Amino acid sequence: MTRRKLVAGNWKMNTTRSEATALAGAVAAGVGASPGCDVAVCPPFPWLVPVAEGLKGSAVALGAQDVYSEPKGAFTGEVSPGMLLEAGCRYVIVGHSERRHVLGETDSQINHKVHAAVEAGLHVILCMGETLGERDRGLMERVFQRQVYSALAGLTDEQFGRVVIAYEPVWAIGTGRTATPEQAQEAHAFIRGKLGSLYGEKIASSLPILYGGSVTPDTAAGLFAKPDVDGGLVGGASLKADAFLSIVRTVG
Ligand code: PGA
Repeated sequence: MTRRKLVAGNWKMNTTRSEATALAGAVAAGVGASPGCDVAVCPPFPWLVPVAEGLKGSAVALGAQDVYSEPKGAFTGEVSPGMLLEAGCRYVIVGHSERRHVLGETDSQINHKVHAAVEAGLHVILCMGETLGERDRGLMERVFQRQVYSALAGLTDEQFGRVVIAYEPVWAIGTGRTATPEQAQEAHAFIRGKLGSLYGEKIASSLPILYGGSVTPDTAAGLFAKPDVDGGLVGGASLKADAFLSIVRTVG
């Protein structure tokens, strides 16, 4: 089963408006008309529309960093899946570790967000991964089991077609400490195994699993060469067009 690869840039709470449009423009120009993998950038909410304008006609897709689980109503400060689609998004990141650990998002909230997003037609980049404490205590498999089950429970086969997982070990995010290709492969294979036992082999073999956590142009090739690593979710290195493009080219 060949899975389409994806490299997505998670800009987090960075960039001014002009930095965002310039970065998106440089990525679009550098990626060209037919990159060897899918490419997306995920700017902060206020820059989605200007970045969408700049990406028009390019091969680079737009993603948001979060979404709310209701279509509209009295939810001050939240943004609905329909709003993201109308702003030009194809993707949305759900359950990023910073939202889980800094902002207290729960497995149940993440499951509701995944449902709302895929029902609206968005493609979800669902993040999961263990903390250093969980890894040290040998709890990785239990953590993956819980995260895979709780986030994806109740999706139809058709909706699974709009899900991408990003395995992001919390200890590797923004720390400069990348997982080794072997550690990433082991985790991805385990997550894929869990997907198979919970949701069936067809879903497990077709669902892309990205690696995230201090991916750089130097570490990307080793990681992306592993059979169960289907691309990357890139934070810090996605803020520099050259670094991001060289990661994209590693896949292509
Ligand atoms: P990083 O972030 O590449 O800066 O470690 C990855 C992420 O949080 O998605």
